[in-house]
Amino acid sequence: MAAGFVLCLLLLQLYVQPYTGQEPVDLSAFQPQSALTDMEFVSVSSYRGPGNTDTRSNKELPILLWWSGNLFPHFPGDTERVDCARSSCLVTRNRKVQLHRRTASIIFYGTDFRAYEAPLPRLAHQTWALFHEESPMNNYLLSHGSGISLFNYTATFRRESDYPLTLQWLPSLNYLLKPPSVSLEEKNSWRKAGLAPVLYMQSHCDVPSDRDRYVQELMKYMQVDSYGKCLNNKPLPEYLEDTSTATGEDQRFMSFVARYKFHLALENGLCPDYMTEKLWRPMHQGCVPIYRGSSSVADWLPNEHSAILLDDFHSPQELAKFIMDLDNDDSKYLRYLEYKTPSKITNLRLLEGLQNREWGINDMSKPNYLNGFECYVCDRENERLTAEKKHRREPDKYPAPQPKMANNTHMGCPLPSPGYGAIEEIEPNDGWLQMWPQDYWQSLDQAEGLVSLINHNESDPGQLWQHIHRMAVSRNSQ
Ligand SMILES: *[C@@H]1O[C@H](CO)[C@@H](O)[C@H](O)[C@H]1NC(C)=O
Ligand SMILES: *[C@@H]1O[C@H](CO)[C@@H](O)[C@H](O)[C@H]1NC(C)=O
Ligand SMILES: *[C@@H]1O[C@H](CO)[C@@H](O)[C@H](O)[C@H]1NC(C)=O
Repeated sequence: MAAGFVLCLLLLQLYVQPYTGQEPVDLSAFQPQSALTDMEFVSVSSYRGPGNTDTRSNKELPILLWWSGNLFPHFPGDTERVDCARSSCLVTRNRKVQLHRRTASIIFYGTDFRAYEAPLPRLAHQTWALFHEESPMNNYLLSHGSGISLFNYTATFRRESDYPLTLQWLPSLNYLLKPPSVSLEEKNSWRKAGLAPVLYMQSHCDVPSDRDRYVQELMKYMQVDSYGKCLNNKPLPEYLEDTSTATGEDQRFMSFVARYKFHLALENGLCPDYMTEKLWRPMHQGCVPIYRGSSSVADWLPNEHSAILLDDFHSPQELAKFIMDLDNDDSKYLRYLEYKTPSKITNLRLLEGLQNREWGINDMSKPNYLNGFECYVCDRENERLTAEKKHRREPDKYPAPQPKMANNTHMGCPLPSPGYGAIEEIEPNDGWLQMWPQDYWQSLDQAEGLVSLINHNESDPGQLWQHIHRMAVSRNSQ
């Protein structure tokens, strides 16, 4: 009874909420750790797409609930009407609408998604939508089939997701085309002055990709200058000591690192299509990335010789030999920068990907991808609701809409494996070994536990541990 009363009050609130139209979006509301800058989140607010002829009043619209409220891409207030390309919705971050019949979809941020906090019971008429652009390491629950298939719609870095964010770290083609900040002549004179050919700069050391183990081995065979906390062998100049500026687009930082011919560009987690600024920034500066991260990275590179892929080499020693050879051969090195000439960018997937994405980075004429995904979900939900209504009225004429859910191709990152060498060779007390393989498998338990909670119509997500325990006991008794 009390809950019903609260719901009524809340709906009253929703109904009286005036539709205020063109409000600017609060950029400060979205500050994930991934260092997406405010600049990248310039955005249009509620916009009525050319095809939107939705005349319904706010109280007739389906509701989309942002379960991760800190990502709610509107300001001010907690609720807003959005007018998308084909239809309109009410969007809110007010969790009190969770069980309301008009709440059609719940939107989650992958990094924050926790099985023990999931909105339960899961209602049959509600879909779940996942936004996850960050590293796979932030939530391995999503990399298991049982976890990802809880969601009906996804926006992830994978091209197979419903609303792909694959090139999210590449602002534009011009970003790649910018002429090298430091000429090869200058780079060579820096080499003579004692700079290593290769730069490494990481301060986040214990990560699933276990990159330091590889770099440590590489350092046996060639000179690498390492300025970050990980494998540090050189002090940063005083003016760069603040690492918060050292990871950004700070001009002095850029000039400092651009003197290196090669940058180790190693993602913190390995997953198909997971590519970050670690790849694109050195290319922007005119340095050659030595890359590991997405196993399918070659699909997106400007041409077949614009990055060195660590996985193409059998060993760090072989890689070192290859780099030293390039270091001594200017014409071979310059081949890696040919893509700075537009006609040498031959990868159509890259060109079309940049051209066709509907969201923009630093582009006022396009929505940001949070608003874009919200509208994607809104339009899909309105289609589904229309199809369901038709089916209820005339079941013989209109079949029920097919259920839609995500699968492993929407995320599906592999079990973390050692950055170098075989797992059997790693000391039992190794930090990486104790952390990441375990995290991966515990995430599987949590995904399966949540599926069990849902199948039992459980309304208290705190029951997760009991369900995991029960599943383990029944596994052991089989
Ligand atoms: C959404 O996904 C769930 C399972 O993850 C599924 O049971 C349900 O049918 C899907 N809903 C729609 C509308 O496709
Ligand atoms: C996974 O989902 C995609 C659609 O997003 C679909 O095309 C594909 O067939 C599915 N794969 C499997 C194995 O179910
Ligand atoms: C959960 O609820 C659904 C729909 O109300 C019902 O069909 C199903 O039998 C319930 N399952 C359990 C395990 O209680």
